[in-house]
Amino acid sequence: MRRPIIAGNWKLNKTPHEAILLVDELKRELVDVTGVDVLVCPPFVDLSEVSDALVDHDIALGAQNVFWEDSGAFTGEISAPMLKDLGVAYVIIGHSERRQYFHETNETVNKRLRAVLKHGLTPIVCVGENLSQRESNKTFDVIKDHCEGSLSGLSVEEMKKAVLAYEPVWAIGTGKTAAPQQAQEVHVFIRQLLGKIFDADTADSVRIQYGGSVTPDNIVLLMAQPDIDGALVGGASLKAPSFSAIVKGAKK
Ligand code: PGA
Repeated sequence: MRRPIIAGNWKLNKTPHEAILLVDELKRELVDVTGVDVLVCPPFVDLSEVSDALVDHDIALGAQNVFWEDSGAFTGEISAPMLKDLGVAYVIIGHSERRQYFHETNETVNKRLRAVLKHGLTPIVCVGENLSQRESNKTFDVIKDHCEGSLSGLSVEEMKKAVLAYEPVWAIGTGKTAAPQQAQEVHVFIRQLLGKIFDADTADSVRIQYGGSVTPDNIVLLMAQPDIDGALVGGASLKAPSFSAIVKGAKK
């Protein structure tokens, strides 16, 4: 049985001050929630304060990216040991916005993934097709390329520690959610692929989140799909009432 996992990806939103206000509200709203792994992924500059605010609370902390070297002359970068020291447990890797605006490739995603695993953090690896790829029936080719390239060289043990997120780019921030059945179809494809690359047990145990315009209104039907194990939430994670409603709706 895969435990549901809901992550809030705040993207480039919330100053440290605003972050604390949101987290305090979330702590109140989610106080009685059990059976779901919940995490928030604020911008780097908010991590320290949010980490302090989450001490003794079940909400976990995630980062939105990481560099692959531990330290050195890499101006502007942030490493896995630094994140770990702050109490970060998860790192989103290869989000489509990073692939689109910051030239992220399968190769760099793979390097970041290895760094995250090496330091005992949990990676959330994002894959997904854009609109023109979907319209030209290339969805499965793109997913296969993203999975094979990003997960290249991982051992079965490492793969079992990772979380995947299927995020169709055309559904991100657009209000156009993939229909639950449409998402399920891709999730099954990913699981079969994991079975081929790794083994059946790994395919069965890895959690695959759906991301792209998830709201309190569509979470229940998405989670009703057998291969959707959670959600990576952008816009709706910026307000405590909507994010906590999604968490509550995610209980299988
Ligand atoms: P959205 O973003 O929920 O605003 O569509 C999801 C994501 O990019 O992770």
